[in-house]
Amino acid sequence: MPSPKANAIRAMKGREKIAALTVYDFAMAQMLDQLGVPLLLVGDSLGMVVLGYEDTTHVTMAEMEHHVRAAARAKPRALLAADLPFQSYETTTQAVQSAQRLIAAGAEAVKAEGGKDILPQVQAIVAAGIPFLGHLGMLPQHVREEGGYHIKGKTVPEREHLLQEAKTLEAAGAFAIVLELVTPPVAREISENISIPTIGIGSGKQCDGQILVTTDLWGTSPNYIPKHVKARLEIPEHMRSAVAEWKKSL
Ligand code: KIV
Repeated sequence: MPSPKANAIRAMKGREKIAALTVYDFAMAQMLDQLGVPLLLVGDSLGMVVLGYEDTTHVTMAEMEHHVRAAARAKPRALLAADLPFQSYETTTQAVQSAQRLIAAGAEAVKAEGGKDILPQVQAIVAAGIPFLGHLGMLPQHVREEGGYHIKGKTVPEREHLLQEAKTLEAAGAFAIVLELVTPPVAREISENISIPTIGIGSGKQCDGQILVTTDLWGTSPNYIPKHVKARLEIPEHMRSAVAEWKKSL
């Protein structure tokens, strides 16, 4: 099934930079949509910045559906994508069923982490008419095996692997690919060698677009803000002052 919104994102490549941000609820989706952000993602970063989990591997399908429903109630003009949570796309049947659950909750596209290793799942999702957003580079759902959030593309084999993975997702019908923590020269090379947009996070300025965890940008993420984000730290300060002033006024 053609998706005009996913096609519009794809068509932005080479014309204008794509701004993408994460949303976790109605208020965020409404605000960021009013600001004209064309791609909103209910990311499974939800687990870390809203639900208090250590990493994204604890997020369940029911939790994703709950937050997708809230974001979808804002009826954004933006394309609303959602992450398939950890272990929800182990087989083609499971991947399509999980993607359909997120679509039924109000998502208009789904994202999953990986390339060749999940190729049959990506092909099955696309064949089911669901727009697919790829995710390569550092894959947060693999953080436990990898022992941390490491930069990808530093060696020649890694560079070649990433380029191949991007071409695989492009051929499978992804409408765009998130590149997370990929070295900027490799992110640039990928962007120049595929026809669909790359959306970088911590991967340099040469991607076709950029995505951030919105609470990192606002400076309100609990515990940790990644190095690649210039957080607006005055925002949490204003929030604290508002509460302190209100308490004093009682
Ligand atoms: O879960 C998430 O928020 C993401 C983005 C940061 C790309 O995958």
